[in-house]
Amino acid sequence: MKVLVVIGTRPEAIKMAPVVKELQRFDKTFQVTVCLTAQHRELLDQVIDVFQIPVTHDLNLMAPNQSILDITCNVLRGISDILDIEHPDVVLVHGDTTTSFAAALASYYKKISAGHVEAGLRTQNKYHPFPEEINRRLADPICDYHYAPTQSAQDNLLREGISESSITITGNTVIDALLEVASTPYEFKDSLLAEAGTHRRLILVTAHRRESFGESFENMCLGMRDIVDNNADVEIVYPVHPNPNVRTTANRILGSASRVHLVDPIEYVPFVHLMKKSYLVLTDSGGVQEEAPSLGKPVLVMREVTERPEAIAAGTAMLVGTSRKRIFQTVQRLLDDQNEYLKMARAVNPYGDGKASLRIAEHLTRIAGSTLS
Ligand code: UD1
Ligand code: UDP
Repeated sequence: MKVLVVIGTRPEAIKMAPVVKELQRFDKTFQVTVCLTAQHRELLDQVIDVFQIPVTHDLNLMAPNQSILDITCNVLRGISDILDIEHPDVVLVHGDTTTSFAAALASYYKKISAGHVEAGLRTQNKYHPFPEEINRRLADPICDYHYAPTQSAQDNLLREGISESSITITGNTVIDALLEVASTPYEFKDSLLAEAGTHRRLILVTAHRRESFGESFENMCLGMRDIVDNNADVEIVYPVHPNPNVRTTANRILGSASRVHLVDPIEYVPFVHLMKKSYLVLTDSGGVQEEAPSLGKPVLVMREVTERPEAIAAGTAMLVGTSRKRIFQTVQRLLDDQNEYLKMARAVNPYGDGKASLRIAEHLTRIAGSTLS
């Protein structure tokens, strides 16, 4: 079976690396080809190097401050050309990016089967997150195989009329990647990261969502400044996303704040080990909401809604929105009240057991057996 794996951004690479590796283990069944759209460039290349993902095609589509329309059109055309070269039996896409949606659509136009890894996440609010909620909703009726990370993701798919026979509950492949990296000892090469969290309590931050650009993102940054201004024993490490909309505001509001370290995006391995030594995590990222709970780190989600309700139900994650006051007050409570903190700081694994990629490979093996023999 010829499988084409399409990857556009950092989180897709982190979450598809274990899938590629697993498919390669079944080398009598699968011939795996990886195509990058490079919707991201530096962020993506960091991960491709770490996991040594073998790349055959690279569309190199990133342009500064690119519009979603440009990404969609360019991925559609670019992937269509690759399909004409490779003639895969199955295309695998991941999650909710514009790369994933457009690659799934290109496959449909060529009547090639597509599988959606991390299918079924929903907020039911089409502008939160934007445009991810619509990207992932539109990908599902197009795709033939749905790899739902959790039961509630499967329930969302069933409610939308996706056939149960097309769904496999796998767990999230991010846990496959995380468990491998987190269990390998690591020594920080960067002195700032090595030092972080050793003399003060470390709050690790990531923030990049489009729907927060402008006032909401300013408020998030002001909330972070309030935290360090009021707590001399706290420091923040914030690897800033290269998107200019994020970078400019973060530098303006936090650039001169004491004990706030604005750094370039951190490679995946040190990032995971930084999460491990943090006191808590403040984020609007999807993947980090899945990783922090399994490391036993409280995660405060700076968004109004989340498509990942499992960690909230388990008590390790909390939605804090984008209000300056609420972000500051919630963090302050967790800094001051050890009981509150310990209630959240429990390792739970609602997102997987590290075998999601194996389940995907096994499913595709069955498909190969029934369709190609
Ligand atoms: C994209 C995805 C989002 C995903 C996120 C993960 C879409 C529309 N958005 O959002 O779903 O959660 O990736 O990070 O699919 N840039 C660089 N270098 C990089 C990456 C980005 O300079 O390595 C800059 C460029 O100016 C680029 C801009 O960031 O134009 C925005 O990148 P884009 O892929 O459009 O959006 P993200 O916000 O990263
Ligand atoms: N991550 C990383 N370095 C960083 C910030 C994040 O390796 O400096 C990882 C993080 O562990 C997670 C993924 O990137 O696995 C999340 O990516 P992002 O926030 O870009 O996207 P999202 O998950 O929101 O789609």
